[in-house]
Formats: sequence, C-alpha cells, structure tokens
Amino acid sequence: MIKGLNHIAIAVPDLALAAKRYKDHLGAVVSAPMAQPEHGVNVVFVELDNAKIELLEPLGEDSPIAKFLERNPEGGIHHICLEVDNVDLASKKLSADGIRVLGGGEAKIGAHGKPVIFLHPKDFYSTLIELEQT
Ligand code: CO
Repeated sequence: MIKGLNHIAIAVPDLALAAKRYKDHLGAVVSAPMAQPEHGVNVVFVELDNAKIELLEPLGEDSPIAKFLERNPEGGIHHICLEVDNVDLASKKLSADGIRVLGGGEAKIGAHGKPVIFLHPKDFYSTLIELEQT
C-alpha cells in the first residue's frame, strides 16, 4: 500500500532559527516560512532529492503543534508522511485491520492540497503516520 516517503515533519520552538540551522550547518535548501492558518502552523520546507522535511512552528491558539511542544519543548519529530494511491481505500483497509484512523477515518485535505488521513501513534510504535494520496 505505501509507496514512498513524502515528508518528515519536525516541530520546532523557533522556526527562523531552525531554518537557519538546516541551511547553515547542513547546506539545506529551505523555503521561506509559509503560514498555514487552516492547519495551525507556520512551515518551512527543506527540499531533499527524494522527500521533504517540514519544520513546523505553532500558529494560533489551538495549533496541534502547541501541545506537542509543551511535552517536547526542544522540538521533535511530529509525524512522518507516506504516500498511497488512495486514502479512502487505505482508511477502509486499516480500519478493517483494527488500526485506529484519526478523525473517524474521514480523509481531509492536507497541507499540500491533497487528501490525507492520520493513523493513531499507539498503533505504530509512538509514531504519528500521515498517509497522503499522490
Ligand atoms: Co504532514
């Protein structure tokens, strides 16, 4: 079902500093910061040959990243995103397998304008998994 790695999302307490760190020390190509208010984050994309790293900073009051940073004040890997052909089929199969699909199993439009679902981290070794339709 899964095809490739789309991105790894890392929550950071200071987005500008994090982008500078990736650029200065790792020679990374980083995007300008972009606000995604509908997802409650400011994001910088680190472009790799085969995937992206997304550096996420909370935006707004009920950002999903804010709670994570309360628990991990220095930042940390928030989720990994894997590509699938069809998130609705993936959601049905996973639910039938007993895997918890967040949000009642309904796909939402993700940060890249494509349908996504998220799988409960307790079902995948404490890793939040995003599946994106590509
Ligand atoms: Co993501």
